[in-house]
Amino acid sequence: MTDTSRSTSLRLLRRAAWAGATALALLAGAVTVWRANAPDGPPLVVVTGEADVRSAFALTDHTGRPVTEANFAGRWQLVFFGFTNCPDVCPTTLAYMASVLDLLGDRADQVAPLFITVDPARDTVPVMAEYVAAFHPRLVGLTGTEAQIAETARNFLVFYERMDEPSAPDGYLMAHAGYIYLMNPEGRFEAVFREERQPPEALAEEILMRVEKAKR
Ligand code: NI
Repeated sequence: MTDTSRSTSLRLLRRAAWAGATALALLAGAVTVWRANAPDGPPLVVVTGEADVRSAFALTDHTGRPVTEANFAGRWQLVFFGFTNCPDVCPTTLAYMASVLDLLGDRADQVAPLFITVDPARDTVPVMAEYVAAFHPRLVGLTGTEAQIAETARNFLVFYERMDEPSAPDGYLMAHAGYIYLMNPEGRFEAVFREERQPPEALAEEILMRVEKAKR
C-alpha cells in the first residue's frame, strides 16, 4: 500500500467513525424524544443532556443578519452541516435538499432550509451568500465565530473535525457527517435522513406527512 492510499484509507475510516458517532448520538436522542412523547404511563423524565438534540444557535445568515433559532420559530427546519470547499457530500446533499424544496412547492414556506458551515474560518458571509445562491433561492446559509459554530454543533450533536489534506484547498478538509436533520417547529429533533437513502420525492412526502400529523 502506498503512503497515499494508506492515508486515504485512514481518512475514509475516520470519516466513517465520525458518521457512526453521530448516528449513535442521534439514536440516543431519538429514544429520548420517543420516551418523552410516550402517551401512556407516568411521564418519563430522561436526563440525558448530551442526547438532547435541539436547534439552538446564535449565528449570522448569508445576508449578514444576526439570527437565532427564534427567527425560525413556528417553522420546521431542514438542517445540514457542511462546508463550501467540500468536494462531495455537501454539494450532493444541498442539491438534493433543493429538489426536496421544489417538490414541496408552496408548502416549502413551512420548512426553513438551513446550511450551517463547520468551516467558519473560510465560510464568511459573502462566501456563504454565493454558495447557497447556487443551490436554491430559499436556502439559508449560516456562519459565525468558531465558538458559535462549536456551540451550535454541540446542540445538534454534530461532530466535525479539521483534517490535513495536502491536495485540498488551503491544505485541509473538514470531516463531518452527512445527515439532514428535520427539526419540528419547537426546534426539537424529529428525524434524520441521508441523501442516498431515498429519492427526493420520498423525503418531500415524509416531511409533508409529519407536518400534517403535527397539526392534528
Ligand atoms: Ni461536506
